[in-house]
Amino acid sequence: MVNRREEKNYEQKTRRSRALFERAGRLIPGGVCHAIRYFHPYPFFAERASGPRIWDVDGNEYVDFWMGHGALILGHNPPNVVEALREQLGFGCQWGTVNELELDLAEMVVRLVPSAEMVRFCNTGAEATMYACRLARGYTGRETIAKMEGGWHGFNSDLLYYVHGPFEAPESLGLVPARDKIVPLPFNDTEETLARLQEYKDDLAAVIVEPVLGSGGFLPADRQYLQALRDMCSEIGAVLIFDEIITCFRIAPGGGQEYYSIKPDLTCLGKILGGGLPIGAVAGASEILKLSNTIGQPKGSRVAIGGGTFSCNPLSMRAGLETLTYLDSHRSIYEKISVLGKKIREVVENSLEVPGRTTRCTGVGSLFRAHFLKDPAAQLRSARDVHTNADIVAREEVRLALINRGIFTVEGGGMVSSSHGRDELKLLQEACEDVSETSVGS
Ligand SMILES: Cc1ncc(COP(=O)(O)O)c(C=O)c1O
Repeated sequence: MVNRREEKNYEQKTRRSRALFERAGRLIPGGVCHAIRYFHPYPFFAERASGPRIWDVDGNEYVDFWMGHGALILGHNPPNVVEALREQLGFGCQWGTVNELELDLAEMVVRLVPSAEMVRFCNTGAEATMYACRLARGYTGRETIAKMEGGWHGFNSDLLYYVHGPFEAPESLGLVPARDKIVPLPFNDTEETLARLQEYKDDLAAVIVEPVLGSGGFLPADRQYLQALRDMCSEIGAVLIFDEIITCFRIAPGGGQEYYSIKPDLTCLGKILGGGLPIGAVAGASEILKLSNTIGQPKGSRVAIGGGTFSCNPLSMRAGLETLTYLDSHRSIYEKISVLGKKIREVVENSLEVPGRTTRCTGVGSLFRAHFLKDPAAQLRSARDVHTNADIVAREEVRLALINRGIFTVEGGGMVSSSHGRDELKLLQEACEDVSETSVGS
């Protein structure tokens, strides 16, 4: 961390968080249970949240653009969801048996998500993407999966490859046996992608892609790129999987597949689907999903995918149902968060300055992410472009400087909820201007 002044300022404001982080370090490796939650010198510990704001244990208030990893499209504690959950708690929070709420939520998914004919719920997005790969392999009888460089699909062992630059370096110990079954693809580079798919076509079970590359930089796919993937998968008999864990119910009620009018065979869902509670799901073509029916299908002819102890727990089902019902009946939310998202991208690009760098803000709809470019003319079309051109040290300095000014972003950006409005935009603009004038790089 170069900017010691910002660091000192932060430490003064967050003494209790610092003490808690020291305690965390003795109990939890690295002090966090998800690496993305760490920032230098230590993350603030949250105490409560409401609407678009979050407060830490030292009483500091932040405009929250992280929104629970993007799970909270209606903001923190939306009254309708809170009320429903209160009622549901009175009926029990974990039944461990089938319930009507899971059918209601499944029906909602089938209605909203264009390619969803059937659904299987689990507890996290990482499970959903793992199950989607297993289904694709079981369905095709092939083993290789193609994924994007920079594509983040959760911590499951199938897809923890080529996530962070440098992409050739292993993401983790303990993953070795599966590496040769994963083919990296350059996002938005149709020619190179199709050439690689051709090369592996005989053993290609699936291509998995986020319609908007999330962790890789909030980079929207070109429509023709997704169409080329669709056509190629159909031609060679591979399963096209859209990981819509960020995008579904966010960039459109039916996600990227509605936004781009392109149907995958399988879709992975999570985040917003749970209305703020843990969830994951695989949805898609019944012909593929039916392979996971274990009743009456002998071993050897079925795909064993779970759901887990807490799958379809009534709290996640109810919160998800409340959220999707609300979104479905308040469709103007999509226009609202998109307009705000666009303004935020403009504000960030125009008012956040780092000496010697050019600020570019990527995203679509309610998603935004700032990149501080070494080369003003750099293209940002793939995670490799971001890795090559964006200054991560500057991004992290800016993050801390913004936090000191009451703005909470992660990896240079975040997500807008329906609870954000003009006040939050104004606070963001003022913070960006102040950071540019007084802080980073000086
Ligand atoms: C695109 C995408 N896929 C999968 C996941 C994994 O979801 P979870 O964290 O619920 O396991 C994430 C989480 O951030 C994600 O952004």
